[in-house]
Amino acid sequence: MINIEVCVSPELIHLYDTKGKNVVIVDIFRATSTMMAALANGVKSITPIMDLEACRDFASKGYTIAGERNGLTAEGFELGNSPLAYFNHAYAGKKIAMTTTNGTLAIEKTKDEANQVVLGAFVNLKATAQYLINQSQDVLILCAGWKGKFNLEDSLYAGALVSSLHPHFQTDCDTAIALKSLYESNSHRLQIFLGQASHAKRLQNHNIEADIDFCLSVDLYDIIGFLEGDELVGIPSKDN
Ligand code: MLT
Repeated sequence: MINIEVCVSPELIHLYDTKGKNVVIVDIFRATSTMMAALANGVKSITPIMDLEACRDFASKGYTIAGERNGLTAEGFELGNSPLAYFNHAYAGKKIAMTTTNGTLAIEKTKDEANQVVLGAFVNLKATAQYLINQSQDVLILCAGWKGKFNLEDSLYAGALVSSLHPHFQTDCDTAIALKSLYESNSHRLQIFLGQASHAKRLQNHNIEADIDFCLSVDLYDIIGFLEGDELVGIPSKDN
């Protein structure tokens, strides 16, 4: 039986074995939701980079650079981290270099040992679940959290994915069991429940409500996002 675990913060990843597992990176507000919006709107690839200055340098290599810190667009960057920026194929065919506060760090911490790094977001929940079932490989869900701390939205998504993978996966991970139950008792009121999340409030303070609504939309896209070498790419669910 294939196994599933959940790690609620990159600060705890050393307690988990990522070797040979499919690692699902989750940053609902907003990194992985934005990455899925970009790939669904025809972006060629996204290169995730932890360091701000290293990402800025990609502009000289012809990349479109996207940078966010503390919810705001980083100075001198063409894009911040809003999923809405990619709508209507605004950046179709482009190669994006992206750095965010938490999401790109979580990818950096797992990409070397994982069998595959897969993007997790509500906007393509069903597609990701079906992909993981078809892969039949042990899964570790890593929540990006906020600066090392647990956050509500990533953890609730982890519960949603564990719930979607039942009964194809078994678990003896208490975190997975707890978050599955948290999700199943709040799945009917995602907006209300996650409206109280600390980063939702932070984004609201920056008048970024529309992004929150988008990030809590379920199954908008039938595509899977995953890391191929150093680049995140998307494939339609039917091709997997
Ligand atoms: C992050 O990486 O922490 C988030 O994506 C931050 C944000 O987009 O507001």
